[in-house]
Amino acid sequence: MHAQPSLRLLLLTLFLSHLQRVPAAGSPTPAPTPADGLNFIRSSCNVTLYPDVCYATLARYAASVHRDPARLTRAAIAVSLAGAQHAAKYVSNLSREADHGADQRAAAALHDCFENFGVAADKMRDSLTQMHHLGAAGSGEQSFRFQMSNVQTWMSAALTHEETCTDGFEDVADGPVKSGVSSRARTVKKVTSNALALVNSYVNKQAGP
Ligand SMILES: *[C@@H]1O[C@H](CO)[C@@H](O)[C@H](O)[C@H]1NC(C)=O
Ligand SMILES: *[C@@H]1O[C@H](CO)[C@@H](O)[C@H](O)[C@H]1NC(C)=O
Repeated sequence: MHAQPSLRLLLLTLFLSHLQRVPAAGSPTPAPTPADGLNFIRSSCNVTLYPDVCYATLARYAASVHRDPARLTRAAIAVSLAGAQHAAKYVSNLSREADHGADQRAAAALHDCFENFGVAADKMRDSLTQMHHLGAAGSGEQSFRFQMSNVQTWMSAALTHEETCTDGFEDVADGPVKSGVSSRARTVKKVTSNALALVNSYVNKQAGP
């Protein structure tokens, strides 16, 4: 349990430094105007439950996303993954303190929550990997649908795991730990819900009318 957080942190660091480059990677197209990307992001975000959060978290990728729904979807998953990883770190910090405290319920809930954010992050990491292999050699329509159905399943599981974190605090006494975790989890859940909505929207668009 104690080696794991630092390993996760290492992976997180490696992964985030990789992510920073994801949306920008391999774009030989001549400078798209950011306004194009911003309009595209705003209209794409209107399929989500939290369009303002969607726009606020994704607008900075406008130039690299341009009008590419696959890039937008990857950026949304990447932002959600980073949020879950950050939440896991936050919870792990609180957990370390709670282990020495008197509130056993809070300590147990924090442990479970850390696990759940970790699993959610794993699912989103798998989703990103899958998104990067879309349309790989030999993959046709069938394969695209199959690959995207994996992403839909994993993103939906990620959201469920994030929800499980907050559920675990129902029996924990109100206080700064509970409210801190709840408010962070609420934010991450919105971002993950939005990413899932963008994944679904991307699948529907590719399927065509
Ligand atoms: C959402 O965006 C689409 C695509 O631009 C647009 O056709 C639709 O009218 C928008 N819906 C809302 C509710 O803004
Ligand atoms: C976790 O604790 C470390 C060390 O105290 C601190 O630097 C870091 O910002 C904390 N992380 C979060 C997400 O709260």
